[in-house]
Amino acid sequence: MKISKDERGVKLAQAALGALAASYAPYSHFHVAAALLAEDGTVYIGNNIENASYPAGVCAERTAFFKAVGDGQRRFLAIAICGGKDGKAEDYCPPCGICRQVMREFCDPAEFKIFLAKQEGEIREYTLEELLPVSFGPDHVG
Ligand code: THU
Repeated sequence: MKISKDERGVKLAQAALGALAASYAPYSHFHVAAALLAEDGTVYIGNNIENASYPAGVCAERTAFFKAVGDGQRRFLAIAICGGKDGKAEDYCPPCGICRQVMREFCDPAEFKIFLAKQEGEIREYTLEELLPVSFGPDHVG
């Protein structure tokens, strides 16, 4: 799927909401889905994938990023995230701290948009900088 900059909030939210059923969450029953927009317009979907050894599970956002980076993508514009118990996105589902740090590796903190979506179609919009202020990134190491 490819989408333009103008329609990205609503389209990414729709894509994430439509992907909630693909989560593998037999332990928490909390489904999360993410739709990540790469700089070239390609959208990558990710879901949380849990494990019987609990710490081996991975969040939806990181699944989306790792699929995209493995596909050769290095720069991203926006992500939509939704989640909830038994796959019902009744409330906003903010990204965890580890996922915010993974975003920081590949995204401009002032520009990268994070859309939180509820199933009724309500969307909240943040920048990565708002959700991860005074952050540590590749520029500090290189
Ligand atoms: N989860 C995500 O997929 N993304 C987040 O940012 C927060 C939490 C998942 C991990 C676990 O499978 C479930 O939600 C409950 O924590």
